[in-house]
Amino acid sequence: MIRLTIPSIDERDLEAVREVLESGYLVQGPRVAEFEGLIADYVGTEHAVAVANCTAALHLALLAADVGPGDRVAVTTYSWPATANVIALCGAEPVFVDIEPVTYNMDPEMLREVLQHTTVKAILPVHAFGGLADMPRILELADQQGVPVIEDAACALGTELAGRRAGAWGTMACFSFHPRKAITTGEGGVITTSDAALARRLRILRNHGQDPDAPAPDFVAPGYNLRLTEFQAALGSAQMAKLDRIVENRRCRAAVYDRLLQGSALRAPGVLADSRHVYQSYAALLPQDAAPQRATIIAGLKAAGIETTIGTYHMPLTTYFRSQGDFAPGDFPVTDDVAARAISLPLYEDLAMDQQVLVIDTVGEMLAR
Ligand SMILES: Cc1ncc(COP(=O)(O)O)c(C=O)c1O
Repeated sequence: MIRLTIPSIDERDLEAVREVLESGYLVQGPRVAEFEGLIADYVGTEHAVAVANCTAALHLALLAADVGPGDRVAVTTYSWPATANVIALCGAEPVFVDIEPVTYNMDPEMLREVLQHTTVKAILPVHAFGGLADMPRILELADQQGVPVIEDAACALGTELAGRRAGAWGTMACFSFHPRKAITTGEGGVITTSDAALARRLRILRNHGQDPDAPAPDFVAPGYNLRLTEFQAALGSAQMAKLDRIVENRRCRAAVYDRLLQGSALRAPGVLADSRHVYQSYAALLPQDAAPQRATIIAGLKAAGIETTIGTYHMPLTTYFRSQGDFAPGDFPVTDDVAARAISLPLYEDLAMDQQVLVIDTVGEMLAR
């Protein structure tokens, strides 16, 4: 089976985890602090706050930005549902913004229109599949409104534009270390920020409301327990040492797919001009007339030994958000099209070129049928 993804785990990762397990010191401590330091240095922010997963990171970021009942948050339409769920979990309302057809990211023109008639507390763009959203234009609009931008950078560790990395654009940014991401801690997440007051609030919220700066335990707010463990952090630090290698290998394989797709019926994903995409997923588009058969194509590929999946989710059309906003097909036409056509192809470090050729040939055969 050509798998959709395989995490890059080697002996050094296993050794790092073993060492922590043998130490008996398992919950948030010096290894978490070390991992946070590596992430902040890499992303280019003053602070990084590690948490249990990216959903928790997004939730805490919104809480730290004082998003609560009655507030609205502008958010992209096309993402893993956690992106909009956390807004609802804060008691706030997601205001969905349609995407660009090529990058699958929040369309700044649509955002501008939304902001003309809606007051929002924050803007939550996603760097879909590891490709940077149009941050220069989104930040310009956010600055005009005087609202913070929280980047959902779950898939985008290493993504950059003009030397500025994903995570260093917004007021806060959230990353995931789920096994489908470039580096993994099993479950895991982190929030990056250069605002010391926000970092402190995040540290309080993730650890039972405990003051992170007090010499003796003191509890200064109601908080959650969303800590990362020491063995996850040790794995994360070991993985960070090979992040650039992993990303470069993924980018090479994405470039091979780009070449193979030239002249084929599948459309390759686009990239924001001059930006560095990290290809957490390689999400191509099927021809429009094949979209209704996508499930059959995915099943046929699986039968042929090739694991693929859809792109991600049309959040306004999920049962929950549809019930909340009375959304229907046609409200977000670009998302309607991309969400129906996207197919994620196998992509991991050791994927061989002849396997990539087989993937594209087999998709071509399915389409011809
Ligand atoms: C864009 C996006 N945001 C948020 C999440 C949630 O991340 P986690 O699984 O770490 O909670 C994901 C997960 O894949 C994601 O793709």
